[in-house]
Amino acid sequence: MTIQDLSQRRPPQAELDPSKIAFGKMFAPNMFVCEYREGQWQNPRLEPLANFNLHPAAIVLHYAQAIFEGLKAFRQADGSIALFRPEKNAQRFHDSAVRMCMPPVPEELFLAAVSELTRIHEDHVPREPGSLYLRPVLIGTEACIGVRASSEYLFYALALPSGAYFPEAKNGLGSVDVLISESVVRAAPGGTGNVKAAANYAVTLKIISDAKHQNCAQVLFLDVSPEHRVEEMGGMNIMFVENGTLMTPPINSTTLPGVVRDSILVLAQDLGIPTREFAYPAAELFAKLKSGAITESFACGTAATITGIAHLLTERGEKFALPAPGPVSEKLYKHLTGVQYGRVPDLHGWRRTVVEAHSLV
Ligand SMILES: Cc1ncc(COP(=O)(O)O)c(C=O)c1O
Repeated sequence: MTIQDLSQRRPPQAELDPSKIAFGKMFAPNMFVCEYREGQWQNPRLEPLANFNLHPAAIVLHYAQAIFEGLKAFRQADGSIALFRPEKNAQRFHDSAVRMCMPPVPEELFLAAVSELTRIHEDHVPREPGSLYLRPVLIGTEACIGVRASSEYLFYALALPSGAYFPEAKNGLGSVDVLISESVVRAAPGGTGNVKAAANYAVTLKIISDAKHQNCAQVLFLDVSPEHRVEEMGGMNIMFVENGTLMTPPINSTTLPGVVRDSILVLAQDLGIPTREFAYPAAELFAKLKSGAITESFACGTAATITGIAHLLTERGEKFALPAPGPVSEKLYKHLTGVQYGRVPDLHGWRRTVVEAHSLV
């Protein structure tokens, strides 16, 4: 399928300094758009970023039929630009669409959309530690009051020049405080926790807002089992270090299969760091934080990369301190960003070059 190019090329108004770009607020001047009508994807195109014209009864506005993805393009050490494992995001977008009763976007169309959107914004990709964040979205647009799947959809993608997700980590690894939620659950078995449905995020907004009042940048959710096992955070996965072993909850029906989580598990093994997929019951987590058996913890995801966790707080007012950023986190951060930015060999074939080095000099 050919993508029509109606974009308007405009260089950034000021130099893109990653330490000054607030995450999620700066938009590249063009977007990718494609409609699904009469059972077909139609008219894929790049065009200037503008508001949509949506019917007030569009199904997405009433019944939250919406999914999204997040991936990054990195300016490489040799000047080229590469996406990091975009096929994983295409697969997850497919799985999310199936779960939310939407027509899956073909992998080829998804990859072409994010690649072309990056290509036309090559001058909007900040240098390390910045990147161009890509946000593909799929929404049900048919006007209909009645709980059923839409027959029409909009697939679009935005590009955002980005610095650090957490202002606390603007020069690299950094660290944040995290509130452990014992009152709010994010997902339950049989729900949508393992896909990227927009509705998953809506239910976390209140507790995230409460957490901010306690100076916590994120919330750690526990599962609904009687043991209240550790699950993941509002927008990233979590890892711990115990006795030198990297521990992270396994992927199940309530946890999002993070691309960065998966990458870290592979890179840890390359680095000789033992790994174990295990979800701590809350009581065991608290005991091991108190005794010092857990020596490090960090958040991981496309937006956060790896961000150390300095304190874990409970809603009951307990506070557990951890050395952050810790040595294992630092080692993994260096190696992961090395692969993402082309500083270390890409042993697993994860980088997808979308702009060659020669076109930038
Ligand atoms: C709920 C949730 N968990 C985990 C992640 C991390 O996933 P990834 O590494 O693919 O960015 C994200 C971010 O997309 C997320 O929203």
